[in-house]
Amino acid sequence: MKFFVDTAEISEITELNELGMVDGVTTNPSLIKKSGRDIIGVTREICSIVSGPVSAEVTATKSDEIIAEGRKLGSLASNIAVKVPLTWDGLKACKTLRSDGFMVNVTLCFSANQALLAAKADASFISPFIGRLDDINLDGMGLINDIRIIYDNFGFETEILAASIRTVNHVLDSARIGADVITAPPGVIKSLVNHPLTDKGLAVFLADIEKTGQKIL
Ligand code: G3P
Repeated sequence: MKFFVDTAEISEITELNELGMVDGVTTNPSLIKKSGRDIIGVTREICSIVSGPVSAEVTATKSDEIIAEGRKLGSLASNIAVKVPLTWDGLKACKTLRSDGFMVNVTLCFSANQALLAAKADASFISPFIGRLDDINLDGMGLINDIRIIYDNFGFETEILAASIRTVNHVLDSARIGADVITAPPGVIKSLVNHPLTDKGLAVFLADIEKTGQKIL
């Protein structure tokens, strides 16, 4: 399963990239606003750091304008995945941008029917938002499972990019279901390593070997 980092903060991307845990990056207009940077500049910088897909989201809503913005974003670097909303205009633009040769990430997906449309529009990635469904007491992981079944039924090549991830359990359950990618905030990815028994066991090992006075170097 690929790990994408859901942020536009250069320092966070760099830190995780040095751990070898960054297979790609996703941004969105809210993450761009939070970064305080301009879309073009920060996107170009992210692409210079990360070799995997970097999702950059359009801000237009009409298909012809989405296509124009997508072509501009896609021209920034070869690893750009143009992010378009799951609307009829977004789906129409997706087909055109894919025929142009760009990667396209169809975002703001909240139903399996929407995901079916994205696959039929030849999306490179579909971004179902787990956390935002859970936030309103709907079943975010159930959506990932439904999309996995449907895509496997018909051999759709669109990659399931599980998004809006809030917890390590979202990561675990996405892996169990077989999502191709998760995109998560840096903090969630970093917390995957945590377990109290690991910390306790390491402390005991180090204390015991210290009592022997031995050193390897
Ligand atoms: O960037 C796409 C998605 O992961 C954002 O989800 O709910 O954390 O804003 P959210």
